[in-house]
Amino acid sequence: MGNAASAKRQHHQEQLGTTGTDAGAAGDHDHVQGFLAEAKAEFEEKWSFPVRTTTRLGDYDRIKTLGTGSYGRVMLVRHKETGSMRAMKILEKKKVVRLKQVEHTLNEKKVLSCVSFPFLVNLDTFFKDNSNLYLVLEFVQGGEMFTHLRKCRRFHEPQSRFYSAQVLLAFEYLHSLNVVYRDLKPENLLIDNQGYVKITDFGFAKRVTGSTGRLYTLCGTPEYLAPEIIQQRGYSKAVDWWAFGILLYEFSAGYAPFRADDQMEIYKQIFAEAYKCPSHFTHDLKDLIKNILKTDLTRRYGNLKNGVGDIKHHRWFAGTDWLALYEKKLPAPLIPHVKNADDTSQFEDYPEGALAGAEQDEYTDIFADF
Ligand SMILES: Nc1ncnc2c1ncn2[C@@H]1O[C@H](COP(=O)(O)OP(=O)(O)OP(=O)(O)O)[C@@H](O)[C@H]1O
Ligand SMILES: [Mg+2]
Repeated sequence: MGNAASAKRQHHQEQLGTTGTDAGAAGDHDHVQGFLAEAKAEFEEKWSFPVRTTTRLGDYDRIKTLGTGSYGRVMLVRHKETGSMRAMKILEKKKVVRLKQVEHTLNEKKVLSCVSFPFLVNLDTFFKDNSNLYLVLEFVQGGEMFTHLRKCRRFHEPQSRFYSAQVLLAFEYLHSLNVVYRDLKPENLLIDNQGYVKITDFGFAKRVTGSTGRLYTLCGTPEYLAPEIIQQRGYSKAVDWWAFGILLYEFSAGYAPFRADDQMEIYKQIFAEAYKCPSHFTHDLKDLIKNILKTDLTRRYGNLKNGVGDIKHHRWFAGTDWLALYEKKLPAPLIPHVKNADDTSQFEDYPEGALAGAEQDEYTDIFADF
């Protein structure tokens, strides 16, 4: 995992700024609308009445680091009382403040604690102490999509389709709640024991006000940034569909469409829509990507009057049984090898380190809402 091509990608370095109908599937469409309406009611209830918890760090044994991020680490932990395994995301308050991620972290916890969908990582509980913030997540054992993708270089199109279809459903769900995800990339997709996707890392997820609400912060990962994010004149949910187009490409090619050592060079390519599809891509895949990677928002699939329907009913997805997929009834292309509930073999090794433990509570007011 040493060379540049296989290195995990970091977020954009600077944190700037401030903070239809489905033709041909009418019955299906009503079904989905009904489901989303119910999901929204559930989400709104949780959003309006946040729960409190009594969980403490001492309730868990810390086993091993599963991943590290810019603001802390994710560790495998065992709940002492029940013996169940969890992934604990630990964020150091001091670092969150220094890196100006306070709002993002509050959003992360708030959004995570209100969502519930098969392809989103489930939040078990959360708490904080003098130095850190803690998100206790279900342990998704199969490891990062990133690792699996780099290992086999690229996915065959049926495998790309299986994973991306789940991301699509998760985005349809999030967008119906007016939540923009903003950090799609294989590093943030995990594979569960059944070989299905779990989206993790809600560090940039944010709820916009209504369907017209706009965001301005330049955040995300350069290769996956939509042009309107870089322009900084306001953007919305369509940025997730742009990133979805990048993901479709990366899954089947093994590398991102816009790539360069220099961040500015990547941005130039993005604005110019300057990419080439490998010759092994099918015509349908090229056509779908072409219709998503549109700098012109009035022409980008996902953002037109049919919404997600233009992508869902594109020929590349023809034959996808969306309901069976949602119910996890389709056979997965890859089942991770895990021996038991605390097997971490699908994750890389990271240096372990002591947790910060201040004598007195730090940044109490700033994190009052966590
Ligand atoms: N629920 C989980 N189960 C297993 N591993 C997880 C889980 N959540 C996160 N991880 C691992 O920890 C890594 C870091 O988590 P996450 O992306 O949420 O942190 P982050 O600090 O926001 O990272 P970055 O800022 O670098 O994107 C993930 O890429 C993944 O490998
Ligand atoms: Mg991440």
